[in-house]
Amino acid sequence: MDITAETDRGLTGKVLHAYANIEDRRLKLIVSDLIKHLHAFVKETKVTDEEWEFAWDFMERMAEITGPERNEFILLADVMGVSQLIETLNHEEPNQPVGFALVGPFYRAGAPFRERGASTASDDTPGERVRISGRVFDFGSSTPIKGAILDTWQAATNGLYENQDENQPDYNLRGRFRADENGTFELVALMPTAYPVPTDGPVGELLRAAKRPPDRPAHIHFIVSAPGYETLVTQIFVKGDKQVEEDVVFTASKNMVGDFKKEGDHFRLAIDFPLKRGVAKMPKAPIPAEEGHRGRYH
Ligand code: BEZ
Ligand code: FE
Repeated sequence: MDITAETDRGLTGKVLHAYANIEDRRLKLIVSDLIKHLHAFVKETKVTDEEWEFAWDFMERMAEITGPERNEFILLADVMGVSQLIETLNHEEPNQPVGFALVGPFYRAGAPFRERGASTASDDTPGERVRISGRVFDFGSSTPIKGAILDTWQAATNGLYENQDENQPDYNLRGRFRADENGTFELVALMPTAYPVPTDGPVGELLRAAKRPPDRPAHIHFIVSAPGYETLVTQIFVKGDKQVEEDVVFTASKNMVGDFKKEGDHFRLAIDFPLKRGVAKMPKAPIPAEEGHRGRYH
């Protein structure tokens, strides 16, 4: 039997009407579209009482493990492709030279400014090193963007970010670098390795049910910003890495790969960041700058 306006007692219409007085036009649109889509989903899927009980219990368990240093709701949006979809729709254009990536749950505010050429890795951090250099420039005119800031972060070879790992120094594998008057920058990072997203919560259950590997291919995060330019949130993956095809959060794509070349005892990566004119806006950091937010999930 089809569910029509008669069998649902006209509920969808009544609910939409109940929210018709929202004054802010954008908020009204978001609320009414959400109601329409949620109601259509419930009708189409014919959600049962038991399934609804499971759903709110799932949300309760997500809330239980969510806090300043872990957000299971963002992770759910990530593994369902929603975070990357929002990023792509809002920022990417055809022939986008360097892709926009989701921020992810491990961006921490307040990374230290480091000298040109310095390493984000403490000397005792295991793993190979990569020397990264390049230029930040105006996408339209190719003029260098003097003083652009690169904020970078990555996981250690054990798959953990410093906030998850009490054996890493504060802000290890994180740092901010300033481009010089020619827009060029240079830094040393860890050669990135693949790691799994946290699977000890409800999102892990979903991945296991779907038989999806929880892995993110090796990558380094960058946020490149300068006044008067749209802030570029991106990640650089390793050219030729087969795992790029299977990113659990659907971010890796061909406009985010770098050619990491072996050079003696380290790797080398040349990568440029063209910025589009626009409004500079840093994303909200899921991990605050303050200390004391370490090691809650392993
Ligand atoms: C990350 O790359 O840091 C990340 C992104 C989305 C979910 C989990 C981790
Ligand atoms: Fe990451």
